[in-house]
Amino acid sequence: MPWLILIPYFLLFAFLMAVVVVVFFWESSLILTRAPFIPMPTDVLPNIVKAMDVQSGEMVYDLGCGDGKVLLACQVQASNAKFIGVERSWLPYFIAKYKSRKSASNIELIRKSFFKVDLSKADKIFVYLFPALMNDLLPKLQKELKPGAKVVSCDFTFTKKEPKEVIGLKRDPKLLGQKLFIYEF
Ligand SMILES: C[S@@+](CC[C@H](N)C(=O)[O-])C[C@H]1O[C@@H](n2cnc3c(N)ncnc32)[C@H](O)[C@@H]1O
Repeated sequence: MPWLILIPYFLLFAFLMAVVVVVFFWESSLILTRAPFIPMPTDVLPNIVKAMDVQSGEMVYDLGCGDGKVLLACQVQASNAKFIGVERSWLPYFIAKYKSRKSASNIELIRKSFFKVDLSKADKIFVYLFPALMNDLLPKLQKELKPGAKVVSCDFTFTKKEPKEVIGLKRDPKLLGQKLFIYEF
């Protein structure tokens, strides 16, 4: 059948279209949010879980949760807490939705800008965001967070707030995930 010869071309076309769609969604995440979707290296997760130290009944947020891997790691440690991931970009949001589909109902994913989410009930917040975005976020955190709320940031700091603790992760300097900064509000 002569049309069979077209199958490889069709598959190549479908593959190229898939690449275009993925690149489009990744780039749109960069343009829309000023912090692209870069997942946390998996070997840093135990350090984050330890630094977050989530307790039963706490409200935990990951602002810009990407594929949700930090929340999923924390949830294993504290299944009685409530976890909320806020992600603006479609691609990481859908990946997080898919990855958390079998998890308990204590993980909620919200697809919107974290600047539009009320954080007044948060006990712990995790962030892995670029410095400019950190600084834009600080006034909102100072206004909304209750006294004693804790923010753990990977690698990036607020310019106008000193961390309470800095945890060096002793990793190869070329790798992502060098330090955790712990802030108390
Ligand atoms: C470096 S990734 C971190 C992903 C995840 N927290 C992790 O550690 O694996 C930053 C994420 O923040 C998201 N983001 C940036 N600005 C945002 C905003 N205003 N609202 C919601 N998500 C945002 C980006 O789309 C991206 O997925």
